[in-house]
Amino acid sequence: MATTTPDRNLALELVRVTEAAALASSRWVGRGDKNAADAAAVDAMRRTMASIAMDGLVVIGEGEKDEAPMLYNGERIGDGSAPAVDIAVDPLEGTTLTAKGQPNALCVVALSERGTMFDPGPCVYMEKLAGGTDIADLLSLTDPIEDVLDRVAARREVAVGDLLVVILDRPRHAEQIARIRAHGGRIRLIPDGDVAGSLMAVWPDTGVDLLWGVGGTPEGVLSAAAIKATGGALLGRMWPRDDDERARTVAAGIDPERILAADDLVAGDNCFFAATGVTNGDILRGVRFTSTEAFTQSIVMRSRSGTVRIVDGRHRRAKTPAET
Ligand code: FBP
Repeated sequence: MATTTPDRNLALELVRVTEAAALASSRWVGRGDKNAADAAAVDAMRRTMASIAMDGLVVIGEGEKDEAPMLYNGERIGDGSAPAVDIAVDPLEGTTLTAKGQPNALCVVALSERGTMFDPGPCVYMEKLAGGTDIADLLSLTDPIEDVLDRVAARREVAVGDLLVVILDRPRHAEQIARIRAHGGRIRLIPDGDVAGSLMAVWPDTGVDLLWGVGGTPEGVLSAAAIKATGGALLGRMWPRDDDERARTVAAGIDPERILAADDLVAGDNCFFAATGVTNGDILRGVRFTSTEAFTQSIVMRSRSGTVRIVDGRHRRAKTPAET
């Protein structure tokens, strides 16, 4: 079995995977069928990932094997050679965004050394707070949000009313939204896609200062992988939906009260992240077609070097018919 650690920039290979998934799912933009869009992404992602020289274990996948025919949790993927890695996939982050032709749908993959990725077990949701490097030490999920806003505003030498917090538009967030508004903070409600929201919070010049909210735990792990490379911070805390889920979370050895940092979600210093835009977004452009070509835009990063690359892809439709 492969045991060596990754010593090449696997993210540069992963970008082919996210490009293929984005090209495939982009055919479903605005067509009102989120399942078909997702299936297209999963199929393309799995097909291209199989050719990568690695011994990959899917830790964050499409679900348990009986409900996910491909990229299920526990699936082995890659050609089986070294390095041995953990894999997190979100073949289409924003299935509804894609089905409705809305912004910020992404195809996302992260990869890290074997045994370093947090397995959320039965816990579907996680409360998250993310922000940039200069405010990383100010974030807290236990302090009142008003205090966090005050600290961030002071550090950035702006008024609380200048801050912009990205939040998923969900009824469960009503109380916190009301508190942020009462305190003078501004909010951007997004319909879906908190991986993109987390990236906006740590990316320069998006106008977004913080991401807060309860979203998918898998998306939290993926966001952590990205933030380890971009810099910044992401805090997470499990958000069991009921007593049964809480009990199963505890039985899985996870303390639901524990505050997890990005280093807890993806341990170690050698993780890789790639994402390709499906629809136009705040950071990446979506897939565009001409009669002969398809264009993609991706982000590729590695935590060890901290290098972030934006990769523009130009795909000849005649030569890559499977993808385009
Ligand atoms: P899908 O791509 O599976 O539709 O998920 C999108 C998403 O908005 C994530 O970004 C987010 O973490 C999660 O769903 C929130 O879950 P819910 O829609 O159940 O509130």
